[in-house]
Amino acid sequence: MMSNQELMIGQPFILRQGQSIKNRIVKSALSEALGTPDGKPTRELIKLYRTWSQANLGLIITGNVMIDRRALGEPGNVVVEDERDLGLLKEWATVAKSGGSDVWMQINHPGKQAIRGLNKETVSPSAIPFSAKMSAAFATPRELTDAEILELIQRYATTAAIAKKAGFNGVQLHGAHGYLISQFLSPYHNRRQDKWGGSAENRRRFVLEIYHAIRSKVGADFPIAIKLNSADFQRGGFTEEESLAAIQALDEVGIDHIEISGGTYEKPIMQLGTQKESTASREAYFLDFARKVRQNSQVPLMVTGGFRSLNGMEAALTSKDADFIGLGRIFAIEPLASKRLLSGQETNYQVKPLTTGFKFIDNFGSLEVTWYTRQMHRIGKGERPIPNENGLKSFLLDIKDKGIGILKTRQLRAS
Ligand SMILES: Cc1cc2nc3c(=O)[nH]c(=O)nc-3n(C[C@H](O)[C@H](O)[C@H](O)COP(=O)(O)O)c2cc1C
Repeated sequence: MMSNQELMIGQPFILRQGQSIKNRIVKSALSEALGTPDGKPTRELIKLYRTWSQANLGLIITGNVMIDRRALGEPGNVVVEDERDLGLLKEWATVAKSGGSDVWMQINHPGKQAIRGLNKETVSPSAIPFSAKMSAAFATPRELTDAEILELIQRYATTAAIAKKAGFNGVQLHGAHGYLISQFLSPYHNRRQDKWGGSAENRRRFVLEIYHAIRSKVGADFPIAIKLNSADFQRGGFTEEESLAAIQALDEVGIDHIEISGGTYEKPIMQLGTQKESTASREAYFLDFARKVRQNSQVPLMVTGGFRSLNGMEAALTSKDADFIGLGRIFAIEPLASKRLLSGQETNYQVKPLTTGFKFIDNFGSLEVTWYTRQMHRIGKGERPIPNENGLKSFLLDIKDKGIGILKTRQLRAS
């Protein structure tokens, strides 16, 4: 146990426009899949955030909220494209902030990375199919037109403005993990010849235009953040060099906060980490990359993925490789984990490797999502998480839930 007087994780942090975040522990985005089939927040979602509001977190980032109801990432996503659910969104924000944490809404468009059959079609900068292994789950997308790209940029801005009106303290763009922004950034997924593709500068245009469109709607002092990959870990994909250049460009236009992650659902490094020795010794997967970011940029930086011990978190902050510690999965099995950490104690539970007993399922990376989603659903129902739940059982039950969710979403669209 450490004395909490000395803990870096307990120190406040002042963002560039003066907003103070009360400590350095952040709940990173965990897609809750607790929206109704037409994208409204449910009672369970609000209850889950009531629980997390008591965790004394510096910042809570919501699971990804979709900007377009034609393009869900998975059944049960909350969708914000107009003000029809403003009352519920206000309630969600109020409850989440009630313990004194700041709350940012993560906003997203999945592009091609949406479960097959869920949406009428999927779109992406280019019509590049998935690998043979992934194409059972994800269909080949249609290439976006120039007019559609412009419309999508405005949609991000509309969603961000509604988040502000509802009382969220900021927004985070999901620019990581193989979703639409990450598809634009990647030379593998983006083969366009127009101003949205080709050079790295052209591929960055989409995210920078989104930033400007949001900024013009929310004003100078509303935090706009982004979660970005250090790399896609995919041959021909977004590399560390390109990521560093993208970070510099985002820093120059005034982004308020950058969260570093990595990988895609084709290469789920964000959940499984890399095999690098330096990662094993420092536990977090992307700290080496964060150190490289620091050489050129003083942008407020958060690193997410793999943090487990208080020592590991303290070391990352003390070395100034990170300003914030992003934690994901632990909050689905121990929702108040940050309270223990802030009092100088280790968490009660640990995020451990999961298995179904079948290698091909485990390697797919989706077990991590399905298993932890079920734990969040328990908390949303007022039940306790089951940190030792059987992997295979959880995987099969989630497939059933997802199947029902897809049917309900499609039925609603048809009616
Ligand atoms: C169930 C589940 C849902 C997730 N949903 C999102 C999401 O909506 N947006 C996002 O940026 N990352 C998402 N992630 C990734 C986490 O934010 C985080 O990057 C990852 O779990 C690694 O951090 P950890 O080792 O502390 O869990 C999700 C992860 C899990 C397990």
